[in-house]
Amino acid sequence: MPLLGLGTWKSKPGEVYQAVKWAVEAGYRHIDCAAIYENEHEVGRALEELMQTGRVKREDLFITSKLWNSNHRLEDVAPALKKTLSDLRLDYLDLYLIHWPISYKQGVGFARTREEFYTYHDIPLRQTWLGMERVQEEGLTRHIGVSNFNSAKLKEIMEQATQYPEMNQVELHPYLPQHALVDFCRAHHIGITAYSPLGSGDRHASMKKEDEPRLMEDPVVQQLAKELNCSPAQVLIAYALHRDIVVIPKSVNETRIQQNLEAAAVKFSEEQLKRLLQIGKAYRFLDGGPFVGDQSPYSLKDLWEEAL
Ligand code: A2P
Repeated sequence: MPLLGLGTWKSKPGEVYQAVKWAVEAGYRHIDCAAIYENEHEVGRALEELMQTGRVKREDLFITSKLWNSNHRLEDVAPALKKTLSDLRLDYLDLYLIHWPISYKQGVGFARTREEFYTYHDIPLRQTWLGMERVQEEGLTRHIGVSNFNSAKLKEIMEQATQYPEMNQVELHPYLPQHALVDFCRAHHIGITAYSPLGSGDRHASMKKEDEPRLMEDPVVQQLAKELNCSPAQVLIAYALHRDIVVIPKSVNETRIQQNLEAAAVKFSEEQLKRLLQIGKAYRFLDGGPFVGDQSPYSLKDLWEEAL
């Protein structure tokens, strides 16, 4: 799996087609998608064109997508994946992930009332995982994994799994290094993908706190960028790569797409990496707020490995 991929969360229809084309033309071979991003049909148009014109072959691409919360019943997994495949214009995925360990009723985009949620009693995570194992057996996806799972939730599905999850995609960057979760996953041969590696500055204002720190403006990140003659974004991408963690920066800008790929050439000394590892600030940009609260049967303990 290519360690560096293109993120597509927040890439609007109208932008993402061009972004995927620029990315593949620049040399990206890994694209991270999800049904809830509501842009897979456009990603699919770009992928089809790139393959039809011979720019790239299917077997050279690594395409990930994710099962949305409203399709966690056993019988809903395969139809959800087939819809994604149809949108992406592909016969199979390389990796399919359970997007969140949170279940909604069918057809719900974002649950707001208690009635729109299922509980773990209604749909145990193991049931959803069984659905994932089946779609893998059917050949609809080569690999299966999860996203936003802590070690307790991973253990829960692994207890009865035939196939262990191969990937856990979580928020990860210098303000949220996730050491405990990375150690747990490594011990069980589960890969880690870092989402929001640049601090996800373009997410909707309703998902941001007023005083939220700006990762790319952090003095340590800025200083390293100066020392290494690269951009702060490249420092942050290189941070994941130095830890052997898959990383999926999102961009819809041609220059930044190219620049992010070139982060693979940025090499830290041990001392420089140490400065990032000891940055002295802890922050989670995606705080899980939309999934918990009075109307939800879930709590933050269902999501995060450790409180910050
Ligand atoms: P844009 O899409 O206009 O390039 P994350 O990957 O953490 O979700 O962050 C995505 C945000 O970071 C987007 O606002 C994206 O803007 C911006 N971004 C992506 N690459 C770079 C870069 N090399 N330099 C500065 N900002 C970047």
